Amino acid sequence: MSTADTHWGSGANAEAIAAWDGPLYDRFVAFRHIVTTGLGAHGEEALRLYPPQPGARVLDVGCGFGDTTQRIAGLVGPDGEAFGVDAAARFVETATAEAAEAGVANTRFMAADVQTAPLGEGFDMAFSRVGTMFFANPVVALRNIRAALAPGGRLVMVVWRRRTDNDWLYRAQQIVEAIVERPDEYDDPTCGPGPFSMADADTTSEILVHAGFSDIAFHRCDIPILIGRDIDEAVALVMAMGPAGEIMRLLGDRARPLEVPVRAALRDGFAEFDGPEGVVARASTWIVSAVNG
Ligand SMILES: C[S@@+](CC[C@H](N)C(=O)[O-])C[C@H]1O[C@@H](n2cnc3c(N)ncnc32)[C@H](O)[C@@H]1O
Repeated sequence: MSTADTHWGSGANAEAIAAWDGPLYDRFVAFRHIVTTGLGAHGEEALRLYPPQPGARVLDVGCGFGDTTQRIAGLVGPDGEAFGVDAAARFVETATAEAAEAGVANTRFMAADVQTAPLGEGFDMAFSRVGTMFFANPVVALRNIRAALAPGGRLVMVVWRRRTDNDWLYRAQQIVEAIVERPDEYDDPTCGPGPFSMADADTTSEILVHAGFSDIAFHRCDIPILIGRDIDEAVALVMAMGPAGEIMRLLGDRARPLEVPVRAALRDGFAEFDGPEGVVARASTWIVSAVNG
């Protein structure tokens, strides 16, 4: 890749963090209403299965805008705390401002790479809603997260299952790849290993074992999500985010002439998801639980 004159810092996740703090932050802001609502149901299911107890201290890994951090703060109550950590400073700034505005006192936020930064200790739970799939070295990152947990503390993470059960992301990728090729040379930073890096339960359980976790359980969660109030919004979403959006983004200016045919192909490909409730697609995650000890 053409990164000779590009500087994203020195850590293994530096390039991914530059993407999250740069173009991906902007895209998450633009599509926030869709992304956080859709993911919300999967996160809520994780919190229903593994509810944080009143008074608990909970780490929210890759907390993004901090809506889950605020939600957890409400569940643990004033005697507990929710600590949101995200590598992208812009997400953390927004999360901090919104929690203050909402008057949620028992939240804290920190901008840090969870793979390397000291995260504190003695947490009862580490929660993550699709925030753990982007580490250059997931074993090291999950070991660092485990080090922040009290003995017996639990990690609960929501991660995407396989592409074929997440049609809206995978189909968009296939459609885009049929028209354009992922570029060998690009100037934009990539988002790291990507959303499906923990889709395989065997691989992910192995990662967790190597990170020192035990009592590992996978709960399959199938909840369709709204990906657009209409087809134009759904197409705009997948052209901006996910594997298809990533290819378009990395192509930069070279993607411009292809935007019209890509958009048309996506409209055709997504027509079957379009209904009276908007554009609704199958979505499937693992809710993974693992214990420190
Ligand atoms: C798909 S977003 C999910 C955000 C949020 N949990 C939600 O559900 O809306 C992934 C988040 O993980 C964060 N992230 C990626 N790599 C990280 C790292 N190494 N350390 C901490 N956060 C990271 C990104 O900045 C981003 O906010």
